[in-house]
Amino acid sequence: MENALPQEIEITKIATSKITEVDFENLTFGNIFTDHMFVCDYVNGEWQTPKIVPYGPLTLDPSARVFHYGQAVFEGMKAYKDEQGDTYLFRPDENYNRINKSAERLAMPAFPENYFFDGLYALLKLDNAWIKSGEGNSLYIRPFVIATQPSVSASEADQYRFMIICSPAQSYYSGDVSVLVAEKFSRSANGGFGYAKAAGNYAGQFYPTKLAKEQGYQQIIWTDSNTHEYVEEAGTMNLFFRVNDTLLTAPISDRILDGVTRKSLIALAEKQGIVVEVRPIKVSEIVAAAKDGSLKEIFGAGTAAVVSPVKAFGYKGAHYEVAPQENSYAAHFKKALLDIQYNMAEDAFGWRVKVQ
Ligand code: COI
Repeated sequence: MENALPQEIEITKIATSKITEVDFENLTFGNIFTDHMFVCDYVNGEWQTPKIVPYGPLTLDPSARVFHYGQAVFEGMKAYKDEQGDTYLFRPDENYNRINKSAERLAMPAFPENYFFDGLYALLKLDNAWIKSGEGNSLYIRPFVIATQPSVSASEADQYRFMIICSPAQSYYSGDVSVLVAEKFSRSANGGFGYAKAAGNYAGQFYPTKLAKEQGYQQIIWTDSNTHEYVEEAGTMNLFFRVNDTLLTAPISDRILDGVTRKSLIALAEKQGIVVEVRPIKVSEIVAAAKDGSLKEIFGAGTAAVVSPVKAFGYKGAHYEVAPQENSYAAHFKKALLDIQYNMAEDAFGWRVKVQ
């Protein structure tokens, strides 16, 4: 495959920036987008010249396969700005590798590494003013690939569009969340594509989550589809349970997303001597720990959610509160992670990447 150099990206700049219309103090997640977007089409077995163009609607044929068969994958990453005005990404290679892993599972072509990074860096340079410094502020980056081939024949497409759009972000969840443990619905199954960041994995959660919301829960803790006895993930985040001082998290599998925040927290915890058990976790042991007081914390970990404490969970009609902790692991990990991401602490793992 031909390699694209940065100067080969065709750039069309916006005439007037929309940035002055944005209230950066009051952002709700994912509603506002920056001035530009990155676009690259796949036609005749090759990725074409990448472009950066003003952010705006797409024109696609109504028969484009993405609309009918959901052949679409995406990523979630963030750019952070330190007090000196330098911009950083966090483990971006992980996102690059994962989007291609997701794409492979949906029979989509891999996107070349240099196109991905040259496009991302050029976009971040152009829309740099949209990245605000200060903890909690970031630019949420959404790379995605859709099947654009105009045909409703039910097979993989031969035309695709890779895009990157960016949205200034603060927190994803405001306040601690309550979650409902799944007893009937499943997010994914053995041999399925739960590990992929595929659009359909998210759409399938909306209905059960809507029902959970009617009961006062914001999210679902998914359980294994065979028995509903083991906890998996929460759909927008992986899950951690602190029982006494031990941290438990489910192993990744073909049903569970290999979260970048998840693996970073495991590494941070282990470095600090916190015992982490990565193993199948029974719902019954979490319920027992909630009853005997050894369940100290539950929290989710994800790019958008960062580290998100869970204050209560529902299971089989019962409601269990998780009392706030003085020395909370969630608060500690959130700070440790954000300090690395915002260039405020030593990065012993080499996770931070400066955007030049
Ligand atoms: C992310 O954390 O980037 C996610 O993908 C969650 C998203 C669906 C809001």
